[in-house]
Amino acid sequence: MQALLRVLATGRGVAELGTAYGETAAVLAETARSVVTVERDPERVALARERLAGFANVELLEGDVFEQLRGRGSFGLVFVDGGLRPVTEEKWDAILALVEPGGLLVKDDMTPGRPIDGDEVREFLLRDPRLAAAEILVAPEMAVIVAARIR
Ligand SMILES: C[S@@+](CC[C@H](N)C(=O)[O-])C[C@H]1O[C@@H](n2cnc3c(N)ncnc32)[C@H](O)[C@@H]1O
Repeated sequence: MQALLRVLATGRGVAELGTAYGETAAVLAETARSVVTVERDPERVALARERLAGFANVELLEGDVFEQLRGRGSFGLVFVDGGLRPVTEEKWDAILALVEPGGLLVKDDMTPGRPIDGDEVREFLLRDPRLAAAEILVAPEMAVIVAARIR
């Protein structure tokens, strides 16, 4: 998963929703032009801040992802790893507004082999006409959906 994100982030402005301890932010920062990552848990923010201190291209914001990223412009890659649940149409619209035209949206932690119908994440990412998306198996028990904003 991290190897895939490292590739997809290359040269792009990246937003990560949910930093946790900064593990993936550090990987994204290796290839991304810039990374903005948001975490609401203060203890995790403190640990992530230490971990990410050496990366000049990373900005770590504390608070709710939607509040912190509102009006921040659009990104070439948006990694959705926190803040999505409960899933609502307003959240999808807010997330899509963060993705620049042609930009990528990535959602990991998908259980492979599940049908699209009845899965609110798959229904949106794989069927929304604003996106072209593919589900990719990255480990025996983990799939990721990579979507490109086409409109
Ligand atoms: C799966 S972890 C993120 C892991 C991280 N992206 C990584 O790969 O290293 C999800 C994180 O999202 C945070 N989170 C959940 N909802 C959030 C919200 N609305 N705003 C900000 N952070 C949120 C949680 O506190 C948790 O640390």
